[in-house]
Amino acid sequence: MNHLLKLLDLSTDEILELLNLADQLKYEQKHDMKHPYLEGQTLGMIFQKSSTRTRVSFEVGMSQLGGTALFLSNRDLQIGRGEPVQDTARVLSRYLDGIMIRTFAQQEVEDLATYGSIPIINGLTDFCHPCQVLADLMTVREHKKRLEGLQMCYIGDGNNMANSLIVGCLKAGMQVSIATPDDYRPDAAVLEFAKGYGEKFRLTSDVKKAAEGADVIFTDVWASMGQEEEAELRRKAFAGYQINEELLKVCAPDVMVQHCLPAHRGEEISAETFEKHADEIFDEAENRLHAQKAVLVKLMKK
Ligand code: CP
Ligand code: NVA
Repeated sequence: MNHLLKLLDLSTDEILELLNLADQLKYEQKHDMKHPYLEGQTLGMIFQKSSTRTRVSFEVGMSQLGGTALFLSNRDLQIGRGEPVQDTARVLSRYLDGIMIRTFAQQEVEDLATYGSIPIINGLTDFCHPCQVLADLMTVREHKKRLEGLQMCYIGDGNNMANSLIVGCLKAGMQVSIATPDDYRPDAAVLEFAKGYGEKFRLTSDVKKAAEGADVIFTDVWASMGQEEEAELRRKAFAGYQINEELLKVCAPDVMVQHCLPAHRGEEISAETFEKHADEIFDEAENRLHAQKAVLVKLMKK
């Protein structure tokens, strides 16, 4: 494993190895055990979209690992004025030990990996959000003590989160059922991948059908970053695609609720359900730190 570009590239063993390492790093941090595995190393963090969790958790994670993180905004980099990603990749590879990038096109992340000579980590594209889903799997395993055989449900937009959840959860041995409106289905390549899992994968537009018996239920915003102008249209298209107390009645009695955040109460999740499951949701946010430290150590430790 040289990069983390998308979960489709990882084997089940690689995913489980990262989750185990994340558990170990969380233990070390919680017990004040120093773990400077990346001493003297520098991570560049390129952001072409906003971020709270990704930015702070990567920066703090590098610091806890004994390294440094550089925040590189699109507004300041020449990439924002049209310098080709191929050149940016080759220049930054001469200065840095790794790059985390949050951008729009998946191809840009793939190009960085192709042209650069250092590990590249995808911090979210329009196609996927692998770091988030590693943290999600870690959180579900912490709460449920296993992943294999659990039933995961996702309600809402067939977006980057849906794409990564489908791949990550199927690879981790979970059953996956997704409810999206017909016009907002997950990516075709992801659906093709999921086909190989037969009965373990279900896609419907019926929210209740998808949620039936779920051990863990996820949702995400109706309009992602870059889709702000479609917000009104999407509000109509996604009406009813909400996690709320009524929907949880058809899930398993001890269902866990997850949301990558930021959340829009009253849209994809009700305020009541969000607050009732806030501990699980903020555990999920915390685990971004630990899961990403595992990715950094795995990719960058010399
Ligand atoms: N979940 C997530 O990636 O949050 P940020 O957009 O705040 O980084
Ligand atoms: N789907 C959301 C996730 C944010 C973490 C977006 O892309 O904006």
